[in-house]
Amino acid sequence: MKHLRKIVLSTVVTAVIATPVYAEKPFEDQIKARQGYYQMLKFNFGQLAAMVKGKKEYNAEQATTAANNIYSLSKLNNGMLWPKGSDNSQLDYTKAKPGIWENFPDVKEKSGNWKAAVETLAGEAGNGLGALKSSFGPVGKACKACHEEYRAK
Ligand code: HEC
Repeated sequence: MKHLRKIVLSTVVTAVIATPVYAEKPFEDQIKARQGYYQMLKFNFGQLAAMVKGKKEYNAEQATTAANNIYSLSKLNNGMLWPKGSDNSQLDYTKAKPGIWENFPDVKEKSGNWKAAVETLAGEAGNGLGALKSSFGPVGKACKACHEEYRAK
């Protein structure tokens, strides 16, 4: 028993000493990168939202640029940004819920639906305000569908 305590204690001491060397904030780089990725999406999506809501005049060239940026972002392989354990059950600097790693097929499906909607948007955004409006809605819904399930409030 005494021996076991010693082992446990020395393990704890090692962990405390070792932790700052490896990572003060585990997965900080990955989490920052994926949050930055979403900020890029948000900015471009916001440009389109302003046109859809009539806060900004529709401009075919700008709409195409923003939609193509979203499309390009949707083509990135972000697999490395989602290491196991980088969820909000352990870390307070991410809003990613553990469900992402538990229900991966569903995440993939939601992500696939989103990508399909984005592809349509990229094809339609430059074809007039009506075409932008009808292709913008499904993308917004797809962003929301994932957030409702996998992003903390
Ligand atoms: C397949 C799931 C999924 C889809 C689709 C998705 N998101 Fe997210 N989003 C997340 C998750 C998970 C987070 C939390 C990331 C974190 O904090 O580590 C997040 C975070 C964000 C954030 C906050 C970033 C920050 O700075 O903390 C914004 C803004 C955002 N998403 C916008 C969007 C927009 C706009 C779309 C659609 C154009 C979208 N997201 C589509 C899952 C998704």
